Amino acid sequence: MNLLVTGGCGFIGSNFIRQRLTEKGSPLTRLVNLDALTYAGNPANLADLAGDPRYVFAQGDIGDPALVTRLLAEHAIDAVVNFAAESHVDRSIDSPEPFIQTNVVGTLRLLNCTKQYWAKLPEAKKAAFRFLHVSTDEVYGTLSASDPAFTEETPFAPNSPYAASKAGSDHLVRAYQHTYGLPTLTTNCSNNYGPYHFPEKLIPLMILNALEGKPLPVYGDGQQIRDWLYVEDHAAAIWLVLRQGRVGETYNVGGLNEKPNIEIVQTICALLDRKSPRADGKPYLSQVTYVADRPGHDRRYAIDCAKLQRELGWKPKENFTTGIAKTVDWYLANRMWCSDITKKKYSRERLGTGQG
Ligand SMILES: NC(=O)c1ccc[n+]([C@@H]2O[C@H](COP(=O)([O-])OP(=O)(O)OC[C@H]3O[C@@H](n4cnc5c(N)ncnc54)[C@H](O)[C@@H]3O)[C@@H](O)[C@H]2O)c1
Repeated sequence: MNLLVTGGCGFIGSNFIRQRLTEKGSPLTRLVNLDALTYAGNPANLADLAGDPRYVFAQGDIGDPALVTRLLAEHAIDAVVNFAAESHVDRSIDSPEPFIQTNVVGTLRLLNCTKQYWAKLPEAKKAAFRFLHVSTDEVYGTLSASDPAFTEETPFAPNSPYAASKAGSDHLVRAYQHTYGLPTLTTNCSNNYGPYHFPEKLIPLMILNALEGKPLPVYGDGQQIRDWLYVEDHAAAIWLVLRQGRVGETYNVGGLNEKPNIEIVQTICALLDRKSPRADGKPYLSQVTYVADRPGHDRRYAIDCAKLQRELGWKPKENFTTGIAKTVDWYLANRMWCSDITKKKYSRERLGTGQG
């Protein structure tokens, strides 16, 4: 199988690529990673795979039809997995346009080039071809404490420019399947965490701020509930859906781990108190500061992933206790990766509170 992955230098894409190229019995003969290397894209995330002859990196935009068309043909691509996106809610509130440009226009152009390439494939290859679009639970909007979790039938009600742009891309993917027959699949996943997570997001931000003696900023009352999934479990779910999912379907992916943000911060502080105590012996929790809530902040997301479990037999390997311990260990062992990123040119203010 020759696979085109977009956005593979980001958090989830790089974990997906590593899993694909290091798993036993991988069917991949070629994996092309198309990434524009925005502030969130970091080639160092995949530095360990540079010598793998199956791996090809192409720097560029999913919205560049000439480049996408060339890559599809040159590498005889059998499947596309689209991770490329602007992904940070706070940034979308500051500046929505890049989100529309990449998440909506970029996805449309990627779909269009893929459709044209796919239409000319021989019948057997055409039938086996897949386009998998990686999306988020944020397209479904927000829940109250007693609402049932989002299912694949929950109507879209995006509340941030980020969520609206992802909802737009999900609709386009659906339309390309319905209108042109392009064999698409979509996954809508809850919040991910784990290695290589960009330090503007909640979990890495809290770990790194704690270790650097900085405030741990918590939005509002800290009671916003998210469902957390370890990134390698998400990567495995995407691979399963790509190979065995029913064409035209969407699959929710969730961690079965609903937690309020404040509990995440407390768990991280307790782990750090044990694994890397402060020099003055005080608990890391003393660094927590509450800051004004984000406008339109969704209160609760919860994902019902029964369809994925029932149809494809997926279940996450990590629970939150094991996953967060692994994550804290990774950040403690990879301080250089973190400091290289924070030295990169982006505004420190933009780091915000990291809450998705
Ligand atoms: N992080 C989460 O918790 C989460 C949860 C559910 C779904 N998702 C979705 O998964 C995907 C990946 O998320 P992530 O957290 O890894 O994001 P990320 O921000 O870490 O990575 C995005 C990658 O896409 C690249 N990119 C951006 N614009 C591009 C363009 N126009 N052309 C090519 N490459 C471009 C960036 O350089 C970066 O490498 C996104 O589509 C996101 O919406 C993320």
